[in-house]
Amino acid sequence: MSDRRVLVNLRGLLTPDPTRTWAVDRIPDAALALEDGRVAWLGRRADLPAAWTDTDRVDGGGAWASPGFVDPHTHLLFAGNRSGEFNRRLQGVSYQDIASEGGGIRETVRATRGATLEELVASGESRLQAFRERGVVHLECKTGYGLELEAESRLTAAYAELKRSGWSLDVTLLPAHDLTPEFGGDAEANAQAVAGAWLPELVRRHPGVARFCDVFVEAGVFNVDQGRRILEAGQRLGLTPRVHADELSWTGGAELAAELGAASADHLMFCSEEGMKAMAAADVTPVLLPGTTLFLGMRDWAPARKLIESGCRVALATDFNPGSCPCLDPLTILRLGCLQLRMTFEEAFTAMTLHAARSLRHGDLGHLHPGARAEVLLWDVEELLELVYWVGEPYRPRFLSA
Ligand code: NIG
Ligand code: FE
Repeated sequence: MSDRRVLVNLRGLLTPDPTRTWAVDRIPDAALALEDGRVAWLGRRADLPAAWTDTDRVDGGGAWASPGFVDPHTHLLFAGNRSGEFNRRLQGVSYQDIASEGGGIRETVRATRGATLEELVASGESRLQAFRERGVVHLECKTGYGLELEAESRLTAAYAELKRSGWSLDVTLLPAHDLTPEFGGDAEANAQAVAGAWLPELVRRHPGVARFCDVFVEAGVFNVDQGRRILEAGQRLGLTPRVHADELSWTGGAELAAELGAASADHLMFCSEEGMKAMAAADVTPVLLPGTTLFLGMRDWAPARKLIESGCRVALATDFNPGSCPCLDPLTILRLGCLQLRMTFEEAFTAMTLHAARSLRHGDLGHLHPGARAEVLLWDVEELLELVYWVGEPYRPRFLSA
């Protein structure tokens, strides 16, 4: 027997329209018909089709309904934290200077290499719980704090364990998150190890766990040629590329993402106009991470308006990580999208739902049109825009019970 329910008593429902790039449906006094965990119908309650008249009702309590948030860029698993480094940055030392002294990402690598599988899984569980309470129903999660085969393999195994316990996530292999200290700064040899040995071995040991592959293309880390070789090696293993691109300086990461048909290019604070056009033409999703710009105290916010005008379907994400954005709060990102990236509320909301899901190739997340997973958030506000307007309010959504 199928499980059929109708969600009623909603002040309204807001959802991106998956058939159009930036259109949002705003339905007052809405109802939502659900069947076997999927949306079957949405519209005004008065228009509910007769076939649903005698179906069990679920009381929305007068809330606004929306699809759950999707976070398409997180570094979920790591050990330790970098509050000491943060304090140095507050005293004027730059993120790059700390990295060039062997701190930064490599400090977290030292702590993560020392963590057990059980410790990694336990910290992942509590972070995923925190994301969920804030309305995030699906995430992309990267490895990258191992920077050598065994530690990267342990991170991949921890993600596999989290998936087995039911968390909805996509795994991205990022052994090229920074230069591996053991290579003594030889980026060529390092890239060769990632492309020729580590990625194939990670996929062999953990079949079916990862869907994506990523690389940090940045001055002093991997250049575009090295990034290309790493991502092409991932493609040969069935991994779709994503790129940490043009974050601290222009390097051509967005152009590389377009050339390879990557699912996303992420950060993009220093993206060129050519890179924007190339991403639009190749349907690469720019994933913007304004929490990182804020936390690094940078002046150059990613060019969201220009990217939208270039025809890109912009997504927003937290970039949750211990160094450049220790923030797992989607409302903070939504607010920065509106207040700093100059996106409208509807654009920022679409960027954190529909386009975020699309960048992960999920057509059934990020909206509430028929066929979508019934990941419905209920917000107790008069207008959904209040989520941004009451700028520090720690709103938490209610969920439909299973
Ligand atoms: O996305 N750019 C590289 N990776 C992270 C920073 C990670 C860290 O500082 O630990 C980022 O910003
Ligand atoms: Fe990142």
